Amino acid sequence: MGNLSESAEKTGTAVGAFNINNLEVLQAVVAAAEKLNLSAIIQTTPKAIEYCGLSEIYAMVMAAINQAKVPLVLHLDHGNSFEIVEACLKIGYRSVMFDGSKLPFGENVSETKKVVELAKKFDAFVEGEIGVIAKGEEGERSNRQFTDPETAAEFVQQTGVDSLAISIGNTHGAPVGEKIDIELLKKINSAVEIPLVMHGSSGLSDDDLLAAIENGIRKINIDTRLKQAFRFGISEEIADKNLDIRDVLSDAREDVEVVVEKYLQIFNQERTTNISNN
Ligand code: G3H
Ligand code: ZN
Repeated sequence: MGNLSESAEKTGTAVGAFNINNLEVLQAVVAAAEKLNLSAIIQTTPKAIEYCGLSEIYAMVMAAINQAKVPLVLHLDHGNSFEIVEACLKIGYRSVMFDGSKLPFGENVSETKKVVELAKKFDAFVEGEIGVIAKGEEGERSNRQFTDPETAAEFVQQTGVDSLAISIGNTHGAPVGEKIDIELLKKINSAVEIPLVMHGSSGLSDDDLLAAIENGIRKINIDTRLKQAFRFGISEEIADKNLDIRDVLSDAREDVEVVVEKYLQIFNQERTTNISNN
């Protein structure tokens, strides 16, 4: 993830980070990135790892990455324990997130610091999180805590993380009409020197995504939109008993590819505009 975010910083773009839980969605992300000749991050959450098995998901993603015609990076998303981070690093992940955002500040610092120290031994990149990103489901939104710029700077300084996920109104689960606070983002971007990450981006408008990139977001996470596209793609055809299941899955894969392409074009507008102007 390190090189990708440095290069995003230089070009004023953001790296697209897409969550995968199965072969077809992985293939869709790779195909879209190759089609646009853009790099991307392939993310697996602890739940995806639990669903597939760590060695299975690692082997599957690395096989795709090793054959891809563009730079792709495997990343642990929302690592929720030291043990899962350690298991991922040991098997070969070189980019991990430790999400201690719901812990009190001091504990988030000490747990994240332990992860950073461990990751150094593997020459791996660590994303931390400060502030609490809410979920779209009703009732949970009240847990949201916007990121305070000074606390963010202190967190980065004390932990030594390589990138920082922040809460500025971005919400997991793609709730309709969510808005981000660009003024707050500007303040965080001035206070923090490392690349900023925006989770919960599926529900945001294209204009908000572009404004976020313009003001320092260098990695954007997308999960819900891919799950929706895959689910709708399958449900459109699954009732047809004459169809081979592989045809159903490959049609859903194409639907996901279209969504990934759309996001990669927005996140890399600077680059794609240059490509089309040449
Ligand atoms: O870590 C994953 C992302 O933050 C996904 O968020 O629900 O908006 O797709 P999303
Ligand atoms: Zn997230």
